[in-house]
Amino acid sequence: MALPIDLTKLSTIATPAVIAIFLSLAVVAYRQWLSPQARRQNVRESSPGRLEKLPAAEKSSPVKAVEESRSFKMPPVPAYPNWDMKDTKPLPYRAFRYGPKYHVTMGLRTIHPTEWIELDSDFPKYHADKAARIKERGSKCVETHPDAFPAAIELLEELVNYLPDRYPSLYERTATGIKNKWSGEDINIVERPLVEDPMALCARLVQDDLAIMIEQPDGQYRLLAGAILLAGFWRFSDKYGMTLSDIHTSGDVPHFKEKLESGMMKFFRRLKCDDFYSRNNYFMQVDDSLSWSHSIGDEDSPGISWSTADKNKAIDHHWFRSERQTLRRLPKSGGVVFTIRTYFLPVTELVSEDYVPGRLASAVRSWDDSVARYKGRERYGEVLLEYLDAKHQEQLDRGLDLEKEDEIRKYPW
Ligand code: HEM
Repeated sequence: MALPIDLTKLSTIATPAVIAIFLSLAVVAYRQWLSPQARRQNVRESSPGRLEKLPAAEKSSPVKAVEESRSFKMPPVPAYPNWDMKDTKPLPYRAFRYGPKYHVTMGLRTIHPTEWIELDSDFPKYHADKAARIKERGSKCVETHPDAFPAAIELLEELVNYLPDRYPSLYERTATGIKNKWSGEDINIVERPLVEDPMALCARLVQDDLAIMIEQPDGQYRLLAGAILLAGFWRFSDKYGMTLSDIHTSGDVPHFKEKLESGMMKFFRRLKCDDFYSRNNYFMQVDDSLSWSHSIGDEDSPGISWSTADKNKAIDHHWFRSERQTLRRLPKSGGVVFTIRTYFLPVTELVSEDYVPGRLASAVRSWDDSVARYKGRERYGEVLLEYLDAKHQEQLDRGLDLEKEDEIRKYPW
């Protein structure tokens, strides 16, 4: 979204007084656009705006260690061992823990920069789904605000540097960018204008959804660039322009205020360029659509809610959805890149793995009321738990040794 007025055209027709009026109108319109309240249409529940409440912001002081880390260069990236688009299966993240209590935590773990992006044999499906979504939904799913353009370009450059080293059988660098040897796409990242939004170009290179948070003068981070194509339960258009807090409170993320908010704010302020982090989560879905879970409502309807989902659908319709997210700061622009890679498989497949049905049943039972509401348990819990208990019993009957579980599966596996 550009500023609502083309200032360059004004100079030929306007006196200084008229220019001043137009400039103040532009600033008001821009602030209004950035206001969470203005951006919050169609979101499940509103929360009070944050930017408006802050005093005319003093620039937050940069953290010294973060500034010093801006000289970071990606270390040499080794090729992913034996990576092959046919044979390298999606990693089996099973990021749920036994009860009795579900603890809401940030759940961040450090990773090596080499592990930033994961690609696997699902690449062709994700690539095709993303291309279709970019075509059908355009800026509802992909957009880069002018303030985030340098960061989006930097993300593109980082991917163009990283991917051919990490996945040499899929990607090669070219004089002007990168070539996908499987699809034949030859992406030029130096021409201007680019052939499409830089975030769309980034999105075509990986299986992840991508977001960039930009620090504002008041120290708040806002979502100013994204390619959110396969998110399932939330819409980029609802969150574009929001602060971190508003993104989460508008979605009723359970225990956000008391357990997550302050830690998250500190984390963002202090995130250095050489620190890479990941976190995992999981959800249940009662339809098989990767891009948008239509059980919770039509993607274009104003209200989306678990309450519209059919209750107690047969187990064949239960899908396990799990995300691996990463966070890192870009050295040149300072933008924080958030990647969201979704893994998606039917529950009927998941239960064939040792220990998984028992542990998942315990985890689902451990959700408190607000977590259960957020994850929609009331709509599928009975069918799911009965099925998981039966599958767990089958594993015990064939002699599964519960004592050995820690040796065999450790969180998040
Ligand atoms: C320290 C970093 C972060 C933490 C600890 C965090 C934590 C969470 C948690 C606990 C949830 C509930 C679902 C789950 O269990 O994952 C959630 C949901 C969500 N997060 Fe974050 N988050 C972080 C960063 C971000 C960033 C950078 C974005 C920017 C796009 C974001 C966007 C969202 C959205 C859109 C949802 C879904 C909200 C809804 O249901 O409407 N998060 N986050």
